[in-house]
Order: sequence, then C-alpha cells, then structure tokens
Amino acid sequence: MKKIEITTPLTIYESVDELPNDVKKLVDLAVKARNTAYAPYSNFNVGAALVLENGEFIYGSNQENAAYPSGICAERVAIWKAASDYPNIKVKKLLITASSNLKTVDAPVSPCGACRQTLFEYESKQHESIEIFFMGETGKIFKTDSLKDLLPVAFSKSLL
Ligand code: THU
Repeated sequence: MKKIEITTPLTIYESVDELPNDVKKLVDLAVKARNTAYAPYSNFNVGAALVLENGEFIYGSNQENAAYPSGICAERVAIWKAASDYPNIKVKKLLITASSNLKTVDAPVSPCGACRQTLFEYESKQHESIEIFFMGETGKIFKTDSLKDLLPVAFSKSLL
C-alpha cells in the first residue's frame, strides 16, 4: 500500500487588467452571456465564453427549469454550441463568470462536477488541453491549464 498526492496548479490573476487581451475579450463575452441567463430559481447568473482555434468566439448562459434537474449550466451550453456548430475545431480557452441577484459574487466561480466531466470529454477528444479561467463579478481570477487539473483521476473513455 502507498499513498500518493495529486496537486492542482492554479494561476491566480489579481484582476482583469492582468489578463492577456484575448482572455479580456472572453471576459466581455462571458459577462454579456451572464446577462442572458435564465435563472429565476437560483438568481445565480452564469456566463461562459470560449475561443476556438479558428478564432471564433462562442458563449452561453445557464438555463433553469421549474423541474430543477432539467436546467443546464452555462459551460455546457457554450461547449455544446461549439461541439455542435464546429465539431472538428479545437477549443483553446474557456472562461466562466457569475453574478447573483442576491449578493456580490466576489470569489472565482469554478465549474461544477458535471461540467468538468463534460469539458474533460472534449479535451480528451481533441487531444489538446483547454485552459479554463474562472471568476466572480469582482476579485481574483483563477486559471487551470487543463481539465486534468480540475478533474484528477477522471472517468474516461479508456475505461470502457
Ligand atoms: N451553474 C452553472 O451555470 N455553472 C456551474 O458550473 C455551476 C452552476 C448554474 C446552474 C444553476 O442554474 C445555477 O448556476 C445555480 O446552481
């Protein structure tokens, strides 16, 4: 028996000013997306924006439902839009932001487990890492270089 340790490298930006220009564009689009959220139940408005290797930008927002589990997260709306419209174009970077009607979101909003699994699938499919940036309305921005860091010991197609 042995015990191993798996670490998660995170890059932390103090504010949007520190981000590269293409990521600042993702911030603008993700904020625009979060304002299109349909979130009457949680009042939590999430926006996700991504850039493809052909330079195309795509974004989406969370869409809730009175039957709660039928709702969907912003990241999955964005990645499925990309996968559906551009099935063979790689995703380079994805950024997530959220605001709430009830309070100021001042901490980075990281993707939920189901979104990590979904994003991991497309990262595996394209054989190239996707950089994930996540932020609140204000405060620091976190970045991981790959879904592998957000979902260690993932369930993957190699197990099937
Ligand atoms: N939500 C997202 O859109 N992405 C996440 O990664 C976490 C949660 C949405 C789902 C729901 O509409 C609301 O935020 C509250 O959970």
